[in-house]
Amino acid sequence: MILPSDPKAGYLAHQKEIDEAVGRVLNSGWYILGTEVEQFEKEFAAFIGARNAVAVANGTDAVALSLRALGLQPGDAVLTVSHTAVATVAAIEMGGFQPVLVDIDPGRYTMCPDSLSKAIANCGRLAKRLKAIVPVHLYGQPCDMDAILDIARQNGLLVSEDCSQSHGAAVNGRTTGTLGHAAAFSLYPTKNLGAFGDAGIITTMDENIGEQLRILRQYGWRERNRSEIPGVNSRLDELQAAILRVRIRHLAEMNSARQRIADIYDQGLRGVCTIPFRAKNCTHVFHQYVIRTENRNLLQRKLKDAGVGTMIHYPLAVHQQPAYMERLHEIVSLCTTERVVSEILSLPIYPELPIVSANRVVDIVSSLI
Ligand SMILES: Cc1ncc(COP(=O)(O)O)c(C=O)c1O
Repeated sequence: MILPSDPKAGYLAHQKEIDEAVGRVLNSGWYILGTEVEQFEKEFAAFIGARNAVAVANGTDAVALSLRALGLQPGDAVLTVSHTAVATVAAIEMGGFQPVLVDIDPGRYTMCPDSLSKAIANCGRLAKRLKAIVPVHLYGQPCDMDAILDIARQNGLLVSEDCSQSHGAAVNGRTTGTLGHAAAFSLYPTKNLGAFGDAGIITTMDENIGEQLRILRQYGWRERNRSEIPGVNSRLDELQAAILRVRIRHLAEMNSARQRIADIYDQGLRGVCTIPFRAKNCTHVFHQYVIRTENRNLLQRKLKDAGVGTMIHYPLAVHQQPAYMERLHEIVSLCTTERVVSEILSLPIYPELPIVSANRVVDIVSSLI
């Protein structure tokens, strides 16, 4: 079976370095928020080109805390997309904010700037509480950030990027995670940069926001046992940080490996089904390689029978989930989102996927469509 992703292959690829890092931490006697976390924060900030990086327990916390650190108050409204991991919207609500959903662009599958403008113009009584935008660089494809940042500026809105799927992706040569006021990354095991457990990190160019995040992630403490503000426990442990320090050294080459697989799929599947759009001014890091086809469910079943594992990211948009249905504000039509989620299919992609397997996926998909 060709797996859709394989975190264990990621461990085996750098086993010696990872085992050494784990042994170092276990022998150190210090297990939470220590020198490994500090070093990882520095190394991650350098990789992204951000001034500050603050490690937290997971990506959901990273989204929620980034908005709190930007100064949003409970009840403030945040614009984001419905075509994302449910975590993006769960995090907005966890922070005490109100999500307002906008549609996606039919080519990029990320936030549609026209829909964003319409939502801002049509939000009526919510207008006073609109404070921020969370664009999601879904599948490793950067959003149309030039347009989104313009709209944010014109409307006095803050921007916190959700970079959970875009470690290393870039717009006009600038890495995602440096484009807004803050940015949240998940470091879940299957991500382009993944821990072997839960982990997350927030980047920002602003020292004050960085400082605020350091306080927020541990009970509002600047000094131990003195809570200056109401904080949370969202600490990263030393084991995950040490593992991430090994893996970040290989992130550029792991992204290149994903791009090589994407090139094979592009060449083999162009004209067979809808392949991912690639914006000229962007670097796509292919967290997922997502095709679109009308008979998606049938194709997925046939691929499984032929030994190709696939996933659907995501089968239901957030506003279609029982927990959110009829509760979230639908200010604009989400019809592109609804059409796209019924047609998408994620093909196997991870850095260690053998090239022969990628070629086999192309042959099998082509023979089934
Ligand atoms: C776009 C997006 N946002 C947020 C998250 C939340 O990350 P985590 O699972 O680490 O909490 C994820 C990962 O699942 C994600 O893909």
